[in-house]
Amino acid sequence: MDLFEYQARDLFEAKGVPVLGGAVASTPEEARSAAQRLGGKVVVKAQVKIGGRGKAGGVKLAENADDAFEKAKAILGMDIKGHVVRKVMIAEAAPIESEYYLAILLDRAARSFLVMASVAGGMDIEEVAHKTPEKLARVHIDVNEGLSKEKAVEIIKQGAFPADVMEKVADVLVLLWKTFQESDATLVEVNPLVKTSDGRIIALDGKVTLDDNSAFRHPDHEALIDHAATNPLEALAKEKDLNYVKLEGEVGVIGNGAGLVMSTLDVVAYAGEKYGVKPANFLDIGGGASAQVMADGLSIILGDPAVRSVFVNVFGGITACDAVANGIIQALEMLGEKATKPLVVRLDGNNVLEGRRILNEAKHPLVEQVDTMDGAAARAAELAAKR
Ligand SMILES: Nc1ncnc2c1ncn2[C@@H]1O[C@H](COP(=O)(O)OP(=O)(O)OP(=O)(O)O)[C@@H](O)[C@H]1O
Ligand SMILES: [Mg+2]
Repeated sequence: MDLFEYQARDLFEAKGVPVLGGAVASTPEEARSAAQRLGGKVVVKAQVKIGGRGKAGGVKLAENADDAFEKAKAILGMDIKGHVVRKVMIAEAAPIESEYYLAILLDRAARSFLVMASVAGGMDIEEVAHKTPEKLARVHIDVNEGLSKEKAVEIIKQGAFPADVMEKVADVLVLLWKTFQESDATLVEVNPLVKTSDGRIIALDGKVTLDDNSAFRHPDHEALIDHAATNPLEALAKEKDLNYVKLEGEVGVIGNGAGLVMSTLDVVAYAGEKYGVKPANFLDIGGGASAQVMADGLSIILGDPAVRSVFVNVFGGITACDAVANGIIQALEMLGEKATKPLVVRLDGNNVLEGRRILNEAKHPLVEQVDTMDGAAARAAELAAKR
């Protein structure tokens, strides 16, 4: 999960990383009162989970509270690269002397953590990395050793920071490491980290990505979820403990096992080319697919108005095909009137003949069986194109 800047700011503050006063606002009125509380000049910043806000006009200096009202009015509702601004952060304005860059991230390819530091921070770090790579220190951190103060100083030196800020920036880097580690983050980035005219080092903008796989040991992360942005079908699937991802197409897909479902998406995409249809979702109902799980899965897929046909692709393993076949029939009974779209079922694997027999005998008007994966994908695509 990516955090909004204001959430990153709060997290930094909690971990002792130096930040400026800031508050989040959803209306110009809230922006004005936040600015009043902070006092003096403030910066009004669009809260969207995408980079390049400044260049898009989403970061504006306001002279006073009334000006903050006006600036917030202009920024709220703005579209930044497809992200609509629903909140702004009101932050104290800093007297900036220099802008630096610090980041810690999970480097999957290197199976390690990577620290990046540069004296040339601000808005275009990608360009720095590209044109003057010598100005960007890149240092891997031994997972077991972590990041000591000594190591941090070494990295900051390598990033060509001036001697007078070296110590303070190294301290901030150690605090960012602590934040990264304690929150189970996969990214903590500060751009810019600034030196103010009175010599303070402050994190002015933060990007944090938390590892969702660690949610179980961070009950407090739940509160950070942006429900407005969550797809309602995905939210429902999560409630039911189903692995569902909404895609853009018309052919609903249910399978057992992530690998099988991934390849099902491929064959549906391939078969669908002829008809101009695509898979509508990823849904893995897992190994022990009971009738209830099948019903939950089907009801989510049928609840997607874009879906025009459903491909149920099951390879019987621990749960044998006869149990799956009974599950499908019972699921359709449970759904009753809600089941409205044709189902193409392909069963194979453990006890397949019995499974196919059960479905044949049930003669459900919506269910059609095709014995091969390619054949079933083609049929499901054809049905989706017809409707
Ligand atoms: N609190 C602040 N006080 C003074 N200037 C600020 C403040 N916050 C940001 N700025 C200035 O605005 C610039 C852009 O701000 P910021 O880094 O937050 O957004 P951005 O980099 O455009 O967005 P993103 O990081 O999403 O690409 C900063 O480099 C800094 O010069
Ligand atoms: Mg920035």
